[in-house]
Amino acid sequence: MTVFHEPLQQQVSEVISELKHKPGALLPILHAIQERLGYIPPESVGSIAEALNQSRAEIHGVISFYHQFRTTPPGKHQVEICRAEACQAMGARQLEAHAKSSLGIDYHQTTGDRTLTLEPVYCLGNCACAPSVRVNDEIVGRVTADKFDQLVSELQTQKLEVLS
Ligand code: FES
Repeated sequence: MTVFHEPLQQQVSEVISELKHKPGALLPILHAIQERLGYIPPESVGSIAEALNQSRAEIHGVISFYHQFRTTPPGKHQVEICRAEACQAMGARQLEAHAKSSLGIDYHQTTGDRTLTLEPVYCLGNCACAPSVRVNDEIVGRVTADKFDQLVSELQTQKLEVLS
């Protein structure tokens, strides 16, 4: 059985009691939990269901319906690849295929060392420099497969520096 660490449980309970009386409280609760913790711990589903008088299956259904909700902790860095039209016209599909195969993960997943989470995004407002990628808060344009690999290796280097 998974242990639901007390600080997490406490934060989830605070969010629930703050928002449960609002009409349509489920989505605001899920967003607020993810904002605070970076993800929605599967162990929180029972508390949410109980507070809103809904079944666990209903809560699970909503979480899995919306791709922006994650049920595992995010990686240290977030890398988003633009999938919108201008970027697609400039090779974003090949870039995302390269990213997935070189990292060994799909969208909404995190590398085994928890360095990096890969997410799709739909226009970063940087269409003139397509294909575009956002690494944490920084937008990078004209990203080739080589440039992508370089960005990833910089993130991994930063992690080693933090650990040493
Ligand atoms: S379409 Fe990719 S940045 Fe606008």
